Amino acid sequence: MKIATSILSANDRKKCIDELNKTSNDLIHIDVMDNKFVPNYQMPINEVNELGIYTKKPFDIHLMMEDPMTFIDKLDVKNTNSITIHLEINKDLNKIIDTIKTRGYLAGIAIKPNTDLKLIEPYINKIDKVIIMSVEPGFGGQKFIENSINRVKEIRKKRNDIIIEIDGGINNKTIKKIDNLVDIAVVGSYIVNSNNYEETINLLKN
Ligand code: DX5
Ligand code: ZN
Repeated sequence: MKIATSILSANDRKKCIDELNKTSNDLIHIDVMDNKFVPNYQMPINEVNELGIYTKKPFDIHLMMEDPMTFIDKLDVKNTNSITIHLEINKDLNKIIDTIKTRGYLAGIAIKPNTDLKLIEPYINKIDKVIIMSVEPGFGGQKFIENSINRVKEIRKKRNDIIIEIDGGINNKTIKKIDNLVDIAVVGSYIVNSNNYEETINLLKN
């Protein structure tokens, strides 16, 4: 399983990236919030482009935004692995997914904890990744929702070879519950609040 560290809760995000560059962390998870889709405003495009200069680990960008194209059009980070939009927004998802893929990134769809999983079906064969939200999106440091495990299994049944990422409330205990079920675990506060990133990441990986 790969670890994508969310730098959302870091006091100094640039310093956090500098530290993560030296660890066995796989991806850097970037939580973008527009204060419309979620009641929080975080990591606008200028900040993400600026942080992109320093990263040695690929960005895994999670857009909690009603209008993701405003961000995607201005993104200028070569070391970007994937861009994920939300299933619940009122936009033409097919069009946005096509744009993400044309620009050479993996395309993902994130699903909130209470959204009917059937709604992913029209897109599941054209995307690369699904992010199962294991907390309500909007804030770091929340408690893992247990039912997310069943939701991961449901997605796996729908498409065996899709990349599944879980996001929210992952720590040394909850990671054991999703081991072997997901490809990527997003970990925020548990890593960035720890004293030794590398030790914490190794603990999570083993
Ligand atoms: C929540 C974000 C998550 C979150 C992860 O809206 O998408 O990426 O910041 O942080 P922790 O691990 O603290 O739940
Ligand atoms: Zn996220």
